[in-house]
Amino acid sequence: MSFKGKDVISIRDFSKEEIEKILEEAEKMETSLAKNIELNYLKGKILANLFFEPSTRTRLSFASAMQKLGGSVIGFEDITSTSVAKGESLIDTIKTVEKYCDVIVIRHPREGSARLAAEISEKPVINAGDGANQHPTQTILDLYTIKKLKGRIKGLNVALVGDLKYGRVMKSLAYGLAMFEANLTLVSPVGLELPEQTIKEIVEKFDTEIIQTDNILSGLKNADVIYVCRIQKERFEDVYEAEKVQKSFRITSQMLEKTKEEAIILHALPKTVEIEPSIDKTKKAKYFDQVYYGIPVRMAIINLVRP
Ligand code: CP
Repeated sequence: MSFKGKDVISIRDFSKEEIEKILEEAEKMETSLAKNIELNYLKGKILANLFFEPSTRTRLSFASAMQKLGGSVIGFEDITSTSVAKGESLIDTIKTVEKYCDVIVIRHPREGSARLAAEISEKPVINAGDGANQHPTQTILDLYTIKKLKGRIKGLNVALVGDLKYGRVMKSLAYGLAMFEANLTLVSPVGLELPEQTIKEIVEKFDTEIIQTDNILSGLKNADVIYVCRIQKERFEDVYEAEKVQKSFRITSQMLEKTKEEAIILHALPKTVEIEPSIDKTKKAKYFDQVYYGIPVRMAIINLVRP
């Protein structure tokens, strides 16, 4: 099983065995980090972080992961300081950047942009989120987190809660969880359901048990893992409508008391109002552990795909 030069564009591009291999490699990276072992696998190599959309975790964790592997990082997080602001196309930007680096990480508001970049670039391209489409490295780190915290993925009841229509994290994750044989409960406001096409694909491919509801309490009742995402306000045409949904669809500590004793809450972050702040202090809230796992998982991915 070789990953050398492989692009990471969609979770669909990976078999279960390939994802298991990444999880194994991430475990090794985590052990090295815990023991403070200096790794130099990427010494002399350069990662280009091209962020055409805002990011805190993905951009910084890729940079941190690359540096922990002994490599260095170039890139931008503000397109106004690049020639994109002068009208340069994505194609020309990628043709240029690939001459400066060994691996490209790209986040872009347009669906399909990472796939386009991969078709142009001879260097491996990692999709850090393309519009409302996919966020595959987030899914791999989410699977890693669930395995670490619950000991398994197969047979777990996972509730995906929030804006499942525009949330790229949820589309990638629903597929990844189905592949690993979790049972899914989709909890979303009316009109923000996971697209029919995604549900059909998952059921046909993996024979996944799926429950759908717009009632948060009933959706959370049997969950072992509660995975929440924010309402993607920036992808709504009507901001007022987005704010209305935001206020009505949030998890409170009272709701949490009615969930399983051992249930955990995850969130890709950033969160806004969808989780009551007091929940952060409860033992069920694991989203900042999840953030940490982004480092070993992204170290594993970079090290596997680098040329
Ligand atoms: N989880 C995630 O993609 O966070 P950022 O938008 O901060 O990168």
